Amino acid sequence: MNVFVTDSYEEMSRAAADVIATLVAEKPDCVLGLATGSTPIGLYAELVKDYEAGKISFAKVKSFNLDEYRGLPGDHDQSYRYFMNTNLFDHVDIDKAQTHVPDGTNPDAEAEGLAYEAAIEEAGGVDLQLLGLGHNGHIGFNEPADDFPVITHVVDLTESTINANSRLFDSIDEVPRQAYTMGIGTIMKAREILLVVNGEGKAEIVRDVLTGPVTPRVPASALQLHPKVTVVLDKEAAKLL
Ligand code: GLP
Repeated sequence: MNVFVTDSYEEMSRAAADVIATLVAEKPDCVLGLATGSTPIGLYAELVKDYEAGKISFAKVKSFNLDEYRGLPGDHDQSYRYFMNTNLFDHVDIDKAQTHVPDGTNPDAEAEGLAYEAAIEEAGGVDLQLLGLGHNGHIGFNEPADDFPVITHVVDLTESTINANSRLFDSIDEVPRQAYTMGIGTIMKAREILLVVNGEGKAEIVRDVLTGPVTPRVPASALQLHPKVTVVLDKEAAKLL
């Protein structure tokens, strides 16, 4: 595991964008696993800048997002499809037909999970999976549990995640109670992982994830077992390391 501590959110975003930009330059038809949340907004903005400066092209890139709220259509402004379109896809030359986000409106959860897994396999697997980190150690929407979930599946969101994410909705009642997420197994199959975390509020969970025991009670701790992980932190998130 390579851990980089940067001075600010801006530096963290640039350093993380560089990891992605380097891969896209080396392998223009790579498969990116992408993430939502407030953490990666800055790094997506950096990638858009690189594209506008002619330094990078996403024309042959395929992408698979980690997760999506269950029940929200892609044009809902809190759906993760909408987030990806507005923060990245609408501003670069990626072929939107090659961008994948679980379909929040599919009533058949099992079929959706299996189809998503099959699509990832068919694309050749994920080259680099970008991850943010929830306050309780969740990645994607894999909440603390008794086991590590293996494949893409539906989860009941915890009260802490519903509360944390309610800031983005008009009221807490509008936050979906379920979501689709890649499993920990799906994430661990990626050939490379890039975890980005900022802010003092996540310092404790960063310490637990990187230096505590590997346990499904701290889902991101599984990353300790992955052979190629880059962690980019700002100095606040790294405070307790
Ligand atoms: C959300 C998402 C995660 C994200 C995490 C942290 O619930 N499902 O993929 O990494 O919470 O979000 P943020 O970056 O806004 O703190």
